[in-house]
Amino acid sequence: MESLELKQEIRRLLDQHNAILLAHNYQRDEIQEIADITGDSLALSISAAETECKVIVFCGVHFMAESAAILAPDKIVLLPRPDAGCPMADMVSVAELQEMKARHPRATVVTYVNSSAAVKAESDICCTSSNAVNVVNSLDTDEVILVPDKNLGHYIAKQTDKTCYLSEGYCPTHDRLTVEDVQRAKQENPDGLFMAHPECAPEILELADHICSTSGMYSFAKESPAGKFIIGTEMGILYRLRKENPEKEFILPSAKLICPNMKLTSLEDLLKCLQTMSPQITVPAEIRAKARLTLERMLAVPRD
Ligand code: 13P
Ligand code: SF4
Repeated sequence: MESLELKQEIRRLLDQHNAILLAHNYQRDEIQEIADITGDSLALSISAAETECKVIVFCGVHFMAESAAILAPDKIVLLPRPDAGCPMADMVSVAELQEMKARHPRATVVTYVNSSAAVKAESDICCTSSNAVNVVNSLDTDEVILVPDKNLGHYIAKQTDKTCYLSEGYCPTHDRLTVEDVQRAKQENPDGLFMAHPECAPEILELADHICSTSGMYSFAKESPAGKFIIGTEMGILYRLRKENPEKEFILPSAKLICPNMKLTSLEDLLKCLQTMSPQITVPAEIRAKARLTLERMLAVPRD
């Protein structure tokens, strides 16, 4: 099938099944193009919790579809590529978190949404890159355990008075961006503003003009008077940045800023998923009930 026909058939099946298509900002361009909503982890969780559609088709990675299944237990949640995982989410296990809790019994556990449902169930509250500092500062506690991302953890620790205990996880995609890459891009584009995702290493964040989630980059690019931006996150974000700001220039400082898991889902996978209504993502009831509390506590934190 030609790409246009594929897209039309996908949209027809979405309507037929009363399904909403949610796509993360790192998905392939052609997936973002036909999605009902593209967004960051927070926006997509909110959409999953609020949708009136019967079916949620999640183009993203496994933990995102799992979060949708936790927040919308009466919906069918489909993940076209169940092998699309997030290596960072696998960098903290329930046993490791339990061990951290035993070492810091007074600390509140703040878990990045990039984590398994079982780890969320063992936590007090979740956060995403767009609300992490707000979530931590909203807590009535002096000590926090932050898992699994050490880089997001460092970023939060710099902006709170609370004592932060970090784990060792990181995003392999953001980790590939080096100081040399950013310095080179800055030298070649002295008028470019550098926007970085908090999953980047602390030495990269030090070079940033603006640090924010993927969706935060869209607003910053739109609102800023600058005409040129250097992008410190996964390359999928360029699709909407360029579409929404045709007069501005966006530079990727490294060709290595590509998340293989986010790029797995093709239009063909999406079509097959809608034809077979599988693979479906479910979470065992006991884990779901506990994990839901941690996500709902996060969603209740006032947003900026
Ligand atoms: P956000 O979309 O929340 O900024 O997170 C980025 C990410 O790495 C998702 O896997
Ligand atoms: Fe996970 Fe990083 Fe890929 Fe996001 S970009 S899904 S954090 S590996």
